[in-house]
Amino acid sequence: MTILAAARLLGQAQKIACLTGAGVSAESGVATFRDPQTGHWARFDPQQLASQAGFAADPGLVWRWYMERLLGVTQRAQPNAGHRALAEIEQMRPHFTLVTQNVDNLHERGGSQNVIHLHGEITRFHCNRCGRTHDLKEAEQTAAEPPRCTSCGGPVRPSVVWFGENLPLPAMNAAWQAAESCDLMLVVGTSGVVYPAAQLPFVAQERGAVVIDINPEPSPISEMATLYLPGPSGVILPQIISQMQEAGLGE
Ligand code: OAD
Repeated sequence: MTILAAARLLGQAQKIACLTGAGVSAESGVATFRDPQTGHWARFDPQQLASQAGFAADPGLVWRWYMERLLGVTQRAQPNAGHRALAEIEQMRPHFTLVTQNVDNLHERGGSQNVIHLHGEITRFHCNRCGRTHDLKEAEQTAAEPPRCTSCGGPVRPSVVWFGENLPLPAMNAAWQAAESCDLMLVVGTSGVVYPAAQLPFVAQERGAVVIDINPEPSPISEMATLYLPGPSGVILPQIISQMQEAGLGE
């Protein structure tokens, strides 16, 4: 019943914004951050691995941790049914903006076109000192220490947002605009505890939008959502699409 309600709401919405988090990639074998036991931050100290202080203290440790994640994403992980379903909804509905906190690019590989990266992308690199962007060869990526910038000699780092850093301004602006102007916000696979991203569903709701949350575990967002669909996104999202198609709600 709730699946049908979600299909109807998505089928009727004029402007849809979608916020995704690590949970949407969980069924691709990519670890989340806060799931007990398997989440990165359940096993590692985020200050050590995802902050300027951590990078300064041990650049090689930070570099190797990210490059291991990069290899996992590019060589092992494949987009799952949830990624593909979101790409399909983008095709079915006229205005659909996907805002992701994920750095893994699995949305694009799953077929999504219009993706805003709030927390950067693990496949991109820039100098931590001068900001120059770098394309790196595989040997540089798998090195034990970060490569040096060819302009200033500073250490190169992955272009992801660390704790204490600002989000990229163009992505922030685009995400806020999408949240403020949508009439439906679909939230998928986020614990809703990292700000400012977690603010987006509240921004949308304050402007009158319906909020649908998909997550096997309840979160602050499932509590405020108009509709909470408990379950894995790779199962729930394809069910919603089937209902939309059955009811002719695609266009
Ligand atoms: P979290 O690890 O905090 O939350 C993942 C959420 O996904 C949890 O609420 C899970 O219940 C849910 N989940 C697990 N499996 C799922 C599935 N199959 N389908 C749907 N949901 C599932 O990850 P994020 O909310 O993305 O920031 O974390 C936000 C930010 O915190 C990340 O972008 C990262 C991290 O520190 C930076 O690196 C800047």
